[in-house]
Amino acid sequence: MSHTIRKAIFPVAGLGTRLLPATKSIPKEMLPIVDRPIIEYAVAEATTAGITHLIFVNSRGKSALEDHFDRHVELEEALMQKGKTAELHRLTDIIPTGVCWSVVRQSEALGLGHAVWCARHLIGNEPFAVLLPDDVIMADTPCLQQMMDRHREVGGNLVAVENVPANQTNRYGILDAGADDERPDGLVEVHGLVEKPRPEYAPSTLSIIGRYILQPNVFDALESSKKGVGGEIQLTDAMAALIDHQPFHGYRFDGVRYDCGDRLGWLKANVAFALRRSDLLDVRAALQDILSQSS
Ligand code: G1P
Repeated sequence: MSHTIRKAIFPVAGLGTRLLPATKSIPKEMLPIVDRPIIEYAVAEATTAGITHLIFVNSRGKSALEDHFDRHVELEEALMQKGKTAELHRLTDIIPTGVCWSVVRQSEALGLGHAVWCARHLIGNEPFAVLLPDDVIMADTPCLQQMMDRHREVGGNLVAVENVPANQTNRYGILDAGADDERPDGLVEVHGLVEKPRPEYAPSTLSIIGRYILQPNVFDALESSKKGVGGEIQLTDAMAALIDHQPFHGYRFDGVRYDCGDRLGWLKANVAFALRRSDLLDVRAALQDILSQSS
């Protein structure tokens, strides 16, 4: 089976309840980090890693997301007439040339596993990536690119992982890891996976972060999946069913992950990305001002 990963699924159908009321009528993936919506960070990560087909799994009430990736011809013409070429390129560069995108709908909120399953006809019989846009990862080499590089060596299934505090295992998919000797290549053998275990039942504190490279067989496992934790069809449960049949690794990525589905995580991402922007040189001084005024 070919190792080339061309397609990526972006589950974006969630309600964003942790960011209410901001997300009452704005999709959480459209909230900005500095001046780009959250979703653009995951899309840029995917296209930089060579993904050429983006598949958004969306739901009703969130069509602003689709509009964002569509062209806005009147706006483009107005910018052109005014000679605002930099702004124009910022619009036309959202989706690079040669990359196409599709939308499928998840009509009922039946869980992440179900959202991924909704895209099965567009994926067909080839390995693919899944990116959860809430997890924004700042890295010199984009996280998915790091994973593609490792995947070329080991094949099978690969999930991004990092250690979380022991009292937070109930928020993540947790690895039952093999001899975890912190290998220099970042790979971790996976013997089992548990979705959101209470700390006392967690096999480790190594948790899945929202980047996956999966074999299409996961769709068969999803097809027969029963509802898991939270009454939802869990991607983690379907992945667990593959472990004895295919290579399955975790990958400790290089980079910093911000959980942008959470208020503090989103704020931190805004500060961290603003500090890296060469066109926003006053951010550090502004932060120091704010801190000195509030102390
Ligand atoms: C999902 C997955 C979980 C994973 C997490 C990463 O959970 O179900 O296994 O660890 O994303 O962000 P959610 O955050 O959608 O509850």
